Parts: sequence; structure tokens; C-alpha cells
Amino acid sequence: MFSAPGYVTADGELLRRAIEKVLRNAIQHTQEGTRVQLFGGGGQHEAVIAVRDWEPGVPDQALAGIFQPFYRIDAAQGRSSGGVGLGLSIAQRAVAVHRGTIFAENCAPGLRVTIRIPRD
Ligand SMILES: Nc1ncnc2c1ncn2[C@@H]1O[C@H](COP(=O)(O)OP(=O)(O)OP(=O)(O)O)[C@@H](O)[C@H]1O
Ligand SMILES: [Mg+2]
Repeated sequence: MFSAPGYVTADGELLRRAIEKVLRNAIQHTQEGTRVQLFGGGGQHEAVIAVRDWEPGVPDQALAGIFQPFYRIDAAQGRSSGGVGLGLSIAQRAVAVHRGTIFAENCAPGLRVTIRIPRD
């Protein structure tokens, strides 16, 4: 079963946290009345997990920056509007431990964050 496409050998707790942080962001940011979509799949060489929300996305020039520690789009509005800006940097480190990648793209509307973990 574990040799089936999409399965990886991983630190389950680390990966769980990474996915949770991405999911929390999506739920927090998506427009009221919309949905959050979680995709899981992959193939012979990697597992793929993607989370998409609907609105507002992030400015294109911030798509890489949101993975930096303490980077927040709405930082000027203070802590009341969200967290401290660590979630995605923690997720990125957890993914990197597995030699994987994480990136964000705008879907117009919404943001999709994709995690790719190579198989052994
Ligand atoms: N799904 C999303 N839609 C829109 N903006 C997002 C989304 N996910 C992250 N962001 C932007 O990226 C920033 C960084 O996200 P990150 O998860 O690292 O920190 P945070 O959510 O602000 O705080 P923390 O996760 O530490 O509680 C957020 O402040 C927000 O501006
Ligand atoms: Mg967060």
C-alpha cells in the first residue's frame, strides 16, 4: 500500500503542522460564504498537497515574501488582524526537511498554496 503513487515516507507530525498552517490561512482569509479546497494527490515521483481559497489572494510581488518569517501583508494594521507571520515560514521549513517545495500562486480569485514532497 505504501508503495502506491503519492505515498511518501515522512515525519507525519511535521507535515501535519505544515498542512494545518496553510489550511488555517485559507480559512482565515477566504471570503465569507466561499469554500476552501484541499487537494491531495501525486504520482510516481512525488506527493502533492494543495490548498486553495476564494479571495483575496496576495499581491503578486508578495507571493514569495509570505514565506519569510514575520512577513504579513497587512502588518500595518497590527496584531488584531491576524497572527505574527510565522505560519508559512514554519511550513516551509517542515517541507524543506522532506526535500520538498512549497509555493503560492494567485488563482484569480483566491490563493493556491502547493506542497510537493519527493518520494524516497
Ligand atoms: N490564504 C491566504 N490569503 C491571503 N493572504 C494570505 C494567505 N495566507 C497567507 N497570507 C498572507 O501571508 C502572510 C503570512 O502568512 P503566515 O501564515 O506566515 O502568517 P500569519 O498567518 O500572519 O500568522 P501566523 O500564521 O504566525 O499566525 C499573512 O499575514 C497574510 O498577509
Ligand atoms: Mg498563518
